[in-house]
Amino acid sequence: MSANTSVPIHPILAERKSPRSLDESVKLTSEEITALLEAARWAPSANNLQPWRFFVGQRGDATFTNILESLRPFNQNWSKRASLLVLVAGATKNEDGTDNNSYTYDCALAVSQLSIEAHSRGYVAHQMAGFEKELAIQNLSINSALAPVVVVAIGKQAGVEQLDEATAQRELAPRVRKPLDEIVLKGLPN
Ligand SMILES: Cc1cc2nc3c(=O)[nH]c(=O)nc-3n(C[C@H](O)[C@H](O)[C@H](O)COP(=O)(O)O)c2cc1C
Repeated sequence: MSANTSVPIHPILAERKSPRSLDESVKLTSEEITALLEAARWAPSANNLQPWRFFVGQRGDATFTNILESLRPFNQNWSKRASLLVLVAGATKNEDGTDNNSYTYDCALAVSQLSIEAHSRGYVAHQMAGFEKELAIQNLSINSALAPVVVVAIGKQAGVEQLDEATAQRELAPRVRKPLDEIVLKGLPN
């Protein structure tokens, strides 16, 4: 179901969503996986520092299992059916050793581009902050110069029958947002 927008926006933005019902039989091709990472790679970042780093697990491989284990139980329950689990970590320091205060912002932009690329190819991308960062660091041997930011589950949407009742209801509910006049504090056109 497309978002209820006040004026038309790009269909991918209107139709993008974060479902939890995923088809566990689907495997992405190497070309598709590369395209998702390429889309992320071309995101803008402060001073073009590109602080994002990606750990890409395909269902069935060790990286997937390592990322899955770090997720909170609710997220594990549905995202175990993802085709890919991607953990995004950010370099927390600039080259001169000072703090990079925008690494989380930059990582989010990269994930946004990855997400749009996934949706444009008929897949869905669902971001998760619900994971144990220390466990992810340990499982993936993440370098201390990096901080885990988010995990993204990518796959093909499937029917809600696979979900428990409460999660299925959330999946079927319309996507909602605050109205523009609540979030645009000055300058909203009439
Ligand atoms: C930073 C971030 C963290 C999120 N963490 C979780 C999570 O841990 N588990 C989950 O099921 N969904 C998670 N979500 C998905 C949001 O709940 C979802 O994007 C939001 O409800 C809006 O729905 P939509 O993406 O379908 O428009 C997260 C989304 C973002 C951007």
